[in-house]
Amino acid sequence: MQREEILGWLRQDRPDALERLQKRADRVRRERVGDAVHLRAIVEISNVCARRCAYCGLRGPNSRLPRYCMTAAEVLACARRARRCGLGTVVLQAGESDALCADWISDLIRRIKRETDLAITLSLGERSPEELAAWRRAGADRYLLRFETSNAELLQRVHPPRPDRPERSRLALLGELRSLGYEVGSGCMVGLPGQQLADLADDIALFGELDLDMVGLGPYLAHPDTPMGRNPARYLAASEQVPASVEMCCKALALTRLACPDANIPATTALVTLAPEDGLERGLRWGANVFMPNLTPSEYRASYRIYPGKADCADGDPDALQRRLRRLGRTPGRGRGDSPNWLARRAAPSAANGLRPVA
Ligand code: 5AD
Ligand code: SF4
Repeated sequence: MQREEILGWLRQDRPDALERLQKRADRVRRERVGDAVHLRAIVEISNVCARRCAYCGLRGPNSRLPRYCMTAAEVLACARRARRCGLGTVVLQAGESDALCADWISDLIRRIKRETDLAITLSLGERSPEELAAWRRAGADRYLLRFETSNAELLQRVHPPRPDRPERSRLALLGELRSLGYEVGSGCMVGLPGQQLADLADDIALFGELDLDMVGLGPYLAHPDTPMGRNPARYLAASEQVPASVEMCCKALALTRLACPDANIPATTALVTLAPEDGLERGLRWGANVFMPNLTPSEYRASYRIYPGKADCADGDPDALQRRLRRLGRTPGRGRGDSPNWLARRAAPSAANGLRPVA
């Protein structure tokens, strides 16, 4: 789908047209990735972060947040629990910080792999190519690194470079991850102050150009202990500011499914936070095929406060989740739930070893 067509859809608000978009995305989702909803256990292993993103509650300068780092034994216990709950993947997520030492992560990956058959997804921010390679060698399968916005000027404003080292381009890192053989995921926020509809159209077109294996996108949610939450007016776009609404997120999800038909796309925690009653169902009806229950131990959960009111998405009642999926005509996924994109690439490695070149 071309960028102009995407932009046209983002501007569209006629209910009959939007219903057509939803049906089309849902059909493509069913044809390409099926009715299974892959469940990924998220474990938020540390909330320490060296960055100063203007929108995020984990930003280093937020001194009101108590910081933690789980022990390896605690993370392993979560992985075992994920396995007992029948989940096929564990996602190790943390802020970006060298406090999480690369060797410690490698060791953790090896221990999880030794004890379980879980796929391991890492979401640990920008790390060096050497570290990413070491973790892949240790057995990590997938890596998530959202580019947040494809508008370089906006990114610079809201995601300042780290003072302690030269800036790395996230697109270059995504290319690095692909050539290391990871399943590669990226994404953006919807309704970030300063994001215009044309920017969101560019983001979605870029998902397609990068031929991503996983795409995560959710609404921006204001956090009072951040510069953006304290002073939103300073950041808002003068025209065509993207609203951080459930409707806009659903449109963006559907367009993402059309841009990346084979990708694994979650109904995100942020969407469920914005629409606690039916965010999961709406996400899954508008193109998503993944859900990520949170298995972080309860004593740490409140401290992984990226934004306030974060939905619990706990696995407390797996039966209730199954019932909700079945009511939608969907089934819980079995096994690792690798993306068809990555499986095809692995079968024909010469076809595309790098990310598709970006124009
Ligand atoms: N609202 C919604 N999403 C956010 N993220 C960070 N801060 C916020 C916020 N205030 C998202 C970013 C980041 C991921 C960890 O969470 O996209 O990549
Ligand atoms: Fe850190 Fe990621 Fe939050 Fe930025 S978005 S402050 S890198 S956790």
